[in-house]
Amino acid sequence: MAFEFSSHDSDFAPSAFGRAAACVETRMRAFDIRDEAPGDVAAREALLDEAFGPTRFLKSCERLREGRMPARGLALVATDEERLVATMRMWPVFAGAGRPALLLGPLAVARDYRSLGLGAAMIEEGLARAAARNHRAVLLVGDAPYYARFGFDARFTEELAMPGSVERERFLGLELSKGALDGAAGRVSGAGARVASTTRAAPRQLAQAA
Ligand SMILES: CC(C)(COP(=O)(O)OP(=O)(O)OC[C@H]1O[C@@H](n2cnc3c(N)ncnc32)[C@H](O)[C@@H]1OP(=O)(O)O)[C@@H](O)C(=O)NCCC(=O)NCCS
Repeated sequence: MAFEFSSHDSDFAPSAFGRAAACVETRMRAFDIRDEAPGDVAAREALLDEAFGPTRFLKSCERLREGRMPARGLALVATDEERLVATMRMWPVFAGAGRPALLLGPLAVARDYRSLGLGAAMIEEGLARAAARNHRAVLLVGDAPYYARFGFDARFTEELAMPGSVERERFLGLELSKGALDGAAGRVSGAGARVASTTRAAPRQLAQAA
């Protein structure tokens, strides 16, 4: 799906998802949000390194992702011509025993493409695709001031526990289907298909395989 953003020399405003462009004196920039392809992996990993640094493999979310494949149809990239400028993936998890959900992240936008609405476009597109695939709930660990605008809220995760420590105010949930997280309690665990690997691999190798 293509999204267009209008930009001004020093001021940027998104025009995607029905929001009017605030700037009229523009040079148009188009971004394509599409499924990630095998050829995107190197650029995706470089973007994640730039955004999160080398400690990204230590995050508690990584315990739910490592060695697993993302949810089908929910590994997205945004490109500007040939350049990969944003990545977002979602992962199958259980939000407590027997309650399937998705884990959103990592989401990263290239530094020189931020505040154009691209992060929001990635999230909105990802959530729409997740709902179309009948997923009912999404969890993430991230900044509530950013994710609240999409409906994510810590009240949905109060009785859930991540593997490893997490700041409670950053552990957020969203119901795609009303009531999907009612009574959600217990440990969040990984549920995605395992990457094909016959040997014990390092985190970076596992990330490159997913
Ligand atoms: C967070 C991130 C994905 C946002 O991407 P983006 O394309 O700039 O996002 P949008 O254009 O949709 O929104 C930008 C707005 O969100 C705000 N914002 C960005 N990060 C924020 C945060 N952590 N907390 C609160 N607000 C935030 C910006 O200030 C900006 O506000 P403005 O519109 O008033 O200028 C991007 O900054 C990024 O890649 N950061 C590094 C990686 C990261 O932190 N990822 C998220 C955690 S998984």
